[in-house]
Amino acid sequence: MTDTLPAHDSDALDEAARVLARGGLVAVPTETVYGLAADATQGEAVARIYEAKGRPRFNPLIVHVDSLEMAERLVELGETGRALAKAFWPGPLTLVAPMRDGAGVASLVTAGLDTLAVRWPDSPALTGLIARLGHPLAAPSANRSGAVSPTTAAHVRDGLGGRIELILDGGACRIGVESTIVSVAGDLAGGATALLRPGGAARSAIEAVTGPLSAAHADSHRPNAPGQLTSHYAPRVQMRLNANLPLEGESFLAFGPRPAVVGCEVVNLSERSDLVEAAANLFAAMRSLDGLGRPIAVAPIPDTGLGEAINDRLRRAAADRTNTP
Ligand code: TXA
Ligand code: MG
Repeated sequence: MTDTLPAHDSDALDEAARVLARGGLVAVPTETVYGLAADATQGEAVARIYEAKGRPRFNPLIVHVDSLEMAERLVELGETGRALAKAFWPGPLTLVAPMRDGAGVASLVTAGLDTLAVRWPDSPALTGLIARLGHPLAAPSANRSGAVSPTTAAHVRDGLGGRIELILDGGACRIGVESTIVSVAGDLAGGATALLRPGGAARSAIEAVTGPLSAAHADSHRPNAPGQLTSHYAPRVQMRLNANLPLEGESFLAFGPRPAVVGCEVVNLSERSDLVEAAANLFAAMRSLDGLGRPIAVAPIPDTGLGEAINDRLRRAAADRTNTP
């Protein structure tokens, strides 16, 4: 059952904040498009976003904040990022910047990357929820995977009705296209400020602050430096998929109840074979086993529900290694 409540009502926001606090999903109007919000600090809540959208792969998500201060607790904006934030926030500009240690954002939000996309939206409903919850909210557009972004509550209900707890209805979105995404991550490393996605904030208005932007693609898999991918975390070590048990010298990424494996590092994605829990644990698990420097044997994961996105990510990690001999 998906309830709909008015976005401009304070009791409705209180109710929505309770849903978010217990790990539920709420569709929220913003000035760009409707977002599907979850508490960015709860990995399983974030995993449910992918489940509800039926997204067959994990793309990094935008985290929404209600102040410049909250943004700066999460990322290092640098001079250019701060100037852009001051010029455009609250508004339709998302900034990708290096994430701070201890940001507290679930690793599924960034798909394991070291950078984080942040936006302070011009939306009293979304900022009202962030203030009530006291946490940032991860929110992609509130549509099923492959469908166009929703700009009314009716669009959201058509796509996600029955799959999420609550829709806040704030009428039609004022801008109607997604935010512009700019990366200042390269800028901080002495490189260029890059336009990752055109959107609600005009390039010319952004360039008035930054000077000429370089082109890049948010979803590009091409490395921008050796050992570093632009939008996907790739482990350095070799991965062997569908392994029932690790071989000598391998570490083991397990799933489900397993006989104890002796003499080998094991991280279990979900002992209770829960794909939502497994998705929430995936990137942190890959990173910790990658850090050991040994090849990783990966247990079979069912290809249903979130298993499809998990298996997509594992297959690409097994193929995309940056240390190909
Ligand atoms: O207007 C908007 O931006 C809406 C509202 C709800 O705020 N949100 C939205 O989110 O459009 P979504 O998930 O549909 O698009 C997020 C985009 C993806 O293309 C993703 O690849 C990119 O942001 N992105 C997120 N984090 C990134 C990162 N660390 N590096 C590069 N790209 C990133
Ligand atoms: Mg989208």
